[in-house]
Order: sequence, then C-alpha cells, then structure tokens
Amino acid sequence: MSSSHALTILPAHRTLAVNSGTSLIEALVDHSIFLRSDCCGRGTCGKCLVQLIQSDGTKKETSACTQQIKSNLTIAVYLCHTDNKEVVSSVAVKNPQSIYGDDVVSRIGAIDMKRDSLDHLQKIVINAIEW
Ligand code: FES
Repeated sequence: MSSSHALTILPAHRTLAVNSGTSLIEALVDHSIFLRSDCCGRGTCGKCLVQLIQSDGTKKETSACTQQIKSNLTIAVYLCHTDNKEVVSSVAVKNPQSIYGDDVVSRIGAIDMKRDSLDHLQKIVINAIEW
C-alpha cells in the first residue's frame, strides 16, 4: 500500500496529494499540469527539468520523469527565455499524452512497453479536457 505525500507547486502555491513511488511527471499530469517530455520519460532530453525544494530548504534541479515521489516536496516550474533568463510563464500546457513521447509512434511504443499506459493516456486526456 502506497503512502501519500504533499507536493506544492510554485509560484502558484498549489498543493497536491501524490502517491509515494509515482514519478514526479506522472503526478503532475494526473493533476493536469503538463511538462514537455520529448524522450518519453527516459531521462535523456532534459525538457522536463524542474527545481525541487526539499523540506530542509535545499534546492536541486532534476528531471521530473526520473524523480520518484518519496517525501513531501515543493517544486518550482518556470518557463524562462533562454537568452536573458526572464520568466515568461509559470505553466506550460500541451498535449498531456506527450509524457509518453512527443509523437504518436513513441506513444505506441510506450504502450507496448507498459500495457497500463493505455489507460493512463486516456485518463490524462480526460483530465485535461476537464481542466
Ligand atoms: S528528460 Fe526527457 S522527459 Fe524527462
């Protein structure tokens, strides 16, 4: 049985209840918060980079697709201009199914690797529509 942890999203100060062992990117998508995920969560593209603030105040940058929820966390998600680091937005919205790949072929491959991905693909689209 998994335990639940609090995940706080900055700068919105929105707190989510997430299950232990869930990847950070899956926890965000389950709550209709979508990050770019070009490598289908393999941890190679760096598009899902977030800053984590742990309960002791220490900060670290990590890929949301490789970070497992093990404790209460706060994350800051900012869209920044690459030239001057100016914050453009605090939320990025795109097709939520992109956590399984940025194209349809990658998503089909994800379903072949993990059969319950199909149910998750359906669920996250429905959540996005209800947002
Ligand atoms: S590093 Fe590619 S989705 Fe996380």
